[in-house]
Amino acid sequence: MDAFQYRENQLFCESVPVARLAEEYGTPLYVYSGSMILDALRTLQAVYAEVDPLVCYSVKANSNLGVLRLLNGHGSGFDVVSGGELFRVLKAGGDPGKTVFAGVGKSDPEIAQAIDAGVLMFNVESEAELDSIARVAAEMGRIAPIALRVNPDVDPKTHRYTSTGQKQSKFGVDIERAVRIAQTAKDKPSLTMIGMHMHIGSQITSVDPYVKAVAKGVELIRQLREMGHPIAWYNMGGGYGIAYKGHEARPIREFAEAILPGIKAAGCRLAIEPGRVIAGNAGVLVSRVLYTKQSGDKRFLIQDAAMNDLIRPALYESFHRIWPVAVPEGLPAPPTDYEAEIPGAEPRDVVGPICESGDFFAKDRPLPPLDRGDLLATFSAGAYGMVMASNYNTRPRAAEVLVEGDQAKLVRRRETLDDLVAQELDL
Ligand code: LLP
Repeated sequence: MDAFQYRENQLFCESVPVARLAEEYGTPLYVYSGSMILDALRTLQAVYAEVDPLVCYSVKANSNLGVLRLLNGHGSGFDVVSGGELFRVLKAGGDPGKTVFAGVGKSDPEIAQAIDAGVLMFNVESEAELDSIARVAAEMGRIAPIALRVNPDVDPKTHRYTSTGQKQSKFGVDIERAVRIAQTAKDKPSLTMIGMHMHIGSQITSVDPYVKAVAKGVELIRQLREMGHPIAWYNMGGGYGIAYKGHEARPIREFAEAILPGIKAAGCRLAIEPGRVIAGNAGVLVSRVLYTKQSGDKRFLIQDAAMNDLIRPALYESFHRIWPVAVPEGLPAPPTDYEAEIPGAEPRDVVGPICESGDFFAKDRPLPPLDRGDLLATFSAGAYGMVMASNYNTRPRAAEVLVEGDQAKLVRRRETLDDLVAQELDL
């Protein structure tokens, strides 16, 4: 489903005109569709139904409490990578027993916090971390449930910054080492190894790497069980790619068809950690054009949103569709085929006010004529958008609105200038 549709030339989020939200809450503004978030969650729960899946929404994609509360209300578990994210999950009423704790650098206090909360399992990323979890658990007189994060050494064919399952990556342990570490774990009474974890990368648009990874995982689980580890969970991580441009994503069902046979063969419950596929297309970033400008042949749209609001284009040169919130008469809805000619559109660089050449949302992007005051929507901004925002150039971070049907709720107010200096002590 796509809850962001144009009706009578106006962009709507579900039943709410986006322009009305921009008037009410100002810009830059993140707008999320609750129905799209839930639709993705339900699809994931349904396609894996045969293996009793636990969908652990990856909090890092969009950690707004409103989003977490919504997901929690519909049976989602959570994947957290810090004590901070765990704190958010608990604040949103999330069940720690459905929460997995990943990340290569868990500190002792974070480990203690997670044991105390009662997380479902730790995804263990190294032998040294295994020792730390065992030590902290022993000190607390507890037994910590763990899953070994294994690096299956497959190429997910995604951006190098979001590829995590190859040998040279900092994540997980390689398969050979995994067997050795699993031996060590046997001697630690404060640990119980109940799962095996893999996450091979993010924005993956082909099922092939998953097929390869699962095959390796099934074999490893057999070995771990032979050693006596009670492996009950196969955690396949996240990574499902979404459509940023048009049609590049594979349907979730295709991933499931690739993964399910292996999980069934392993006789495990499946945990998955999807982030982007739940929140990504469910959010837009709304901005306002401040100035238009020409320099040589280049034409610029200078808008009030910048790389501090959405860093993906600057950091990964990622593509986000951008289109006016109110489409001029006679022009189509946003293109889904950028190779084809777009009538009435001319190439523009969409840039923000930050003092860096890297502060752009798009280069030479076909757009209809626009003027100061016009609103722009940057699509597919619901994941890794607001969570990666900063205060660079002392810019207050944007507000966030969650829409459900004809209701819009402000789920994060815009920061004030006072907020920005509130932590500084020597005033
Ligand atoms: N599980 C683990 C262990 C992860 O490291 C990640 C993402 C996920 C799950 C969720 O992956 P997803 O389903 O969202 O692909 N900032 C980058 C993405 C970084 C992803 C980091 N790990 C971006 O904007 O593309």
